[in-house]
Amino acid sequence: MESVIVAIDGPSGTGKSSTSKAVAAKLGLSYLDTGAQYRAITWWMISNGIDANDADAVADAAGKPVIVSGTDPSRPTITVDGVDASGPIRTEEVTSRVSAVSAVPEVRALITELQRSIARGAAGGIVVEGRDIGTTVLPDADLKIFLTASPEARAARRSGELKGADVRATREALVKRDAADSSRKTSPLAKAGDAVEVDTTELTLDQVIECVVTLVEERR
Ligand code: C5P
Repeated sequence: MESVIVAIDGPSGTGKSSTSKAVAAKLGLSYLDTGAQYRAITWWMISNGIDANDADAVADAAGKPVIVSGTDPSRPTITVDGVDASGPIRTEEVTSRVSAVSAVPEVRALITELQRSIARGAAGGIVVEGRDIGTTVLPDADLKIFLTASPEARAARRSGELKGADVRATREALVKRDAADSSRKTSPLAKAGDAVEVDTTELTLDQVIECVVTLVEERR
């Protein structure tokens, strides 16, 4: 089977991670969660007392942590300086600061290079999920998908994942993070001109997975 590179972008709560992992597992591809990498560097900044809103300090420190992503879709891992960061990167504190850290151009340059080298090294092909994969990181991807969903559907999914978090507060936090990610100067969240848009509002996860698998198979 030929190697294939799939870019899946979109805002939070559209089902990107669940879809990307399942598609990669079904098709025997590697999987990369680029949001986890931005979360990992944010966690490192917080742990080292660096203010996420101090862009100069973040830029100066950006090259210090060593971030390693495991690309098995059934068991994706992330370490920072050899320490498992998969739990700490999902805390509220990291979620509220990640947009500020990921807007710093020096951070994006380093993480983008890391992402490209992981994609190049994935022999059988890879599904890479994020915000700027189709536009900036892998503009030559074989297939680009842009997932969307209404803010209500996204908030309901996220608060379900966060085990009963208040839907209204979750919606407000999501909308705020999307606005920051979409308005930053360096590679904002955006749909690539040649991406296929899939609105997941009314679809089950299985339907989204099936839709993406079909699109990948058409391009193989
Ligand atoms: O996907 P997830 O919600 O874990 O992403 C966390 C954050 O990482 C996003 O809100 C965004 O600020 C940043 N991110 C990014 N570019 C990517 C992936 C994530 O800026 N390709």
